[in-house]
Amino acid sequence: MAVPLPTAWFNGEFMPLAAVRVSPLDRAFLFGDAVYEVIPVYAGQPFLLDPHLDRLERSFREVEIRNPHGRAEWEKIIGGLVQRNGGGNLAVYLQVSRGADVGRDHAFPGSHVTPTVFGMVSTIREPHPDRTGIRAITRPDQRWGRCDIKSTALLANVLARQAASAAGAGETILLRDGQLTEGSASSVIIVEKGVLVRRPAGPDVLPGTTTDAVFVIARECGRRCIDDAITVERLRGADEIWIAAATRGLAPVVVLDDTPVGNGEPGPVWQQVSAAFDASRPTAHSGGKVP
Ligand SMILES: Cc1ncc(COP(=O)(O)O)c(C=O)c1O
Repeated sequence: MAVPLPTAWFNGEFMPLAAVRVSPLDRAFLFGDAVYEVIPVYAGQPFLLDPHLDRLERSFREVEIRNPHGRAEWEKIIGGLVQRNGGGNLAVYLQVSRGADVGRDHAFPGSHVTPTVFGMVSTIREPHPDRTGIRAITRPDQRWGRCDIKSTALLANVLARQAASAAGAGETILLRDGQLTEGSASSVIIVEKGVLVRRPAGPDVLPGTTTDAVFVIARECGRRCIDDAITVERLRGADEIWIAAATRGLAPVVVLDDTPVGNGEPGPVWQQVSAAFDASRPTAHSGGKVP
């Protein structure tokens, strides 16, 4: 479990996390009417910041929550959270709800209601323990039709992740209509004869910042990378399966539903691409090569 560090951002100011108070009428609490982002930070420097802020802005547009801050302000909030919590390897969590009205009504409130803005930080374990390989299970994807929006309404993801936890596995890979969608909190990449494959962007998957960066880097490593539908049979027959997420990086799945993936060890393509991906992240001595 990622335990948050002491200093948070709440509605315009940095303050102790323990001092943040949210109204029970906040629409994030009542309806899950909120969007969020999780931005990785290495050696005190945000990684892939622009793609994360692009996706946050897209989420605002798609659900019609007013973006309370310009880019420069978001960058200042993120930088302030990192600096006040001591830098290092961190995950910055930002959440914006539609705000709290005087009562409960599904329809949007009037313009008198302003968004509730919350930010907190937790540490990223580095190197991540998933690097030795994780076990994953499959489950039906029971989520709504707009998984491309990074919304806090995550009950189906919570149930899917709990299924993994109860099975002693590291992730649940979701299947819909005989095809792979994604993980409960991650994207999925498969490797077939050296080629990286992920399913195309669409309303049933979140566009992953990590997979985008991994594809850029894998191509630089000479790998072919394609977007294509992935049937369950294709998933089960893959030479390698990886999960990708901002706070977990790139992790090899070595067992899927009790069956070894490949020879049951992190595969050679993962070894190559994950090393190059890790090398692209900021370090104490470099600004990092951000794709
Ligand atoms: C459902 C889902 N898909 C994909 C991802 C991967 O996105 P990213 O690589 O931008 O972290 C996440 C990340 O948390 C997620 O929750």
